[in-house]
Amino acid sequence: MSTTGFDLVVVSNRLPVDMQQDASGAISWTRSPGGLVTALDPIMKGAEGAWVGWSGAPDFAPEPFDADGTFLVPVPLSEGEIQRYYEGFSNDTLWPLYHDVITPPAYHRTWWDSYRAVNERFAEAAVAQAAEGATIWVHDYQLQLVPALIRQLRPDVRIGYFHHIPFPPFELFQQLPWRRQVIDGLLGADVVGFQRRSDATNFMNCVRRLTAVKPRTNIFSVHSDNGARRLVKAAAFPISIDSHSFDRLAHTDAVKKRAEEIRSDLGDPDVIMLGVDRLDYTKGIRHRIKAYGEILEDGRIDAASTTLIQVASPSRENVKAYRDLRQQVEILVGRINGEYGEIGHSTIHYLHHSYPQDEMAALYLAADVMLVTSLRDGMNLVAKEYVAARHDLGGALVLSEFTGAADELGGAILVNPHDIDGMKDAIVHAANMPSAEARRRMRRLRRKVMHDDVNKWAHNFLASLEDIGQRNEHNGAY
Ligand code: G6P
Repeated sequence: MSTTGFDLVVVSNRLPVDMQQDASGAISWTRSPGGLVTALDPIMKGAEGAWVGWSGAPDFAPEPFDADGTFLVPVPLSEGEIQRYYEGFSNDTLWPLYHDVITPPAYHRTWWDSYRAVNERFAEAAVAQAAEGATIWVHDYQLQLVPALIRQLRPDVRIGYFHHIPFPPFELFQQLPWRRQVIDGLLGADVVGFQRRSDATNFMNCVRRLTAVKPRTNIFSVHSDNGARRLVKAAAFPISIDSHSFDRLAHTDAVKKRAEEIRSDLGDPDVIMLGVDRLDYTKGIRHRIKAYGEILEDGRIDAASTTLIQVASPSRENVKAYRDLRQQVEILVGRINGEYGEIGHSTIHYLHHSYPQDEMAALYLAADVMLVTSLRDGMNLVAKEYVAARHDLGGALVLSEFTGAADELGGAILVNPHDIDGMKDAIVHAANMPSAEARRRMRRLRRKVMHDDVNKWAHNFLASLEDIGQRNEHNGAY
């Protein structure tokens, strides 16, 4: 760090590290596997970067420390704030509201108060690290008030915001009692990035309906505090994965051997299907398993020679909707296994764990059909990981139209997960796909995924921010 602060400060709800505590109580940190961390790693190192975020544990915020070239700045959250700001407002209000109200959002004023207070804390922690004229890049729905809060504190910095999840149409967003405050929070940024064009359009429509600003194109001006006009850009920057390192991992002998081992451990089925999700009601896990069960019932695929592996990693277990979903999925899996399983062969392998990347790569390589059937999903990086792993041009991707990835992955078999019959046909088609068609589709998918990786995403976003930032500086808006 220079004595005057960092030139790039990233702000996200979670720090990019996972904390471990050994028996003696000693704490250690390992880098989280997420793509965002990987993408920003070289940029952070090159640009004197700091990362501001929560440690993941209540009331635990050690002194800032250096991890692998990035300065990590923990922000404390109390037990009560975890309940109200994180589990409550972020994951039981905004998450369902922004995902098409698949489950009803809860609106509680105490949750909103906590959200606001925590957003203020994050903004203060971010500006404390920022050098004069620095770039601050804020991430995701947990921190939508942070851009405007930062601008009030530090009009000299460039502010980017990227929204990783869907942005809803006005007709849904309208339900939020604090809709105006959220829009004002986001408009504090120079660039507001989304996954899909439709998300950016929804956002601009909300701006139009709720404020005096009437965007006509995706670069529009707002009043800045000093009376000048300031430009804001709202645009799509579809996120990706570190495709090349995933591809390399899937090429290793260890991963290829493990993929074979998985197939033989499963009793060498003709068809392996795979679902990989956080256990979240947005992912359409029940719809998928229902469709699979009906296909078995109809006799269109043979239970004895087909296996579905469903990896469902534990998530947000203190939120009731997530506990309910777990129960529903487990009942459904149990019913289908009870009906179609044999001694030594379950037709669904349900795994309520998360796995390291090499095991994931092996699962992807082993899977003949990948099922991504979200009811709504900002992007869905699992679909891109599957493609990046399939250097052998094998496998078929069944992909929901309701994912951001569907806008980009033309080679996938697109499905509407609400249309169970349509999804059943697509799954059967994928399971029986002639290899020439599968290879053609996978080649097309790989061209896209290998070309548009997460590094390109981060550079595009930061280049846009640089452009708008320069124009605003030039106009005296800062
Ligand atoms: C989604 C969100 C992220 C979030 C992740 C895991 O991908 O866009 O912001 O970090 O889910 O959820 P969690 O609540 O465990 O952080």
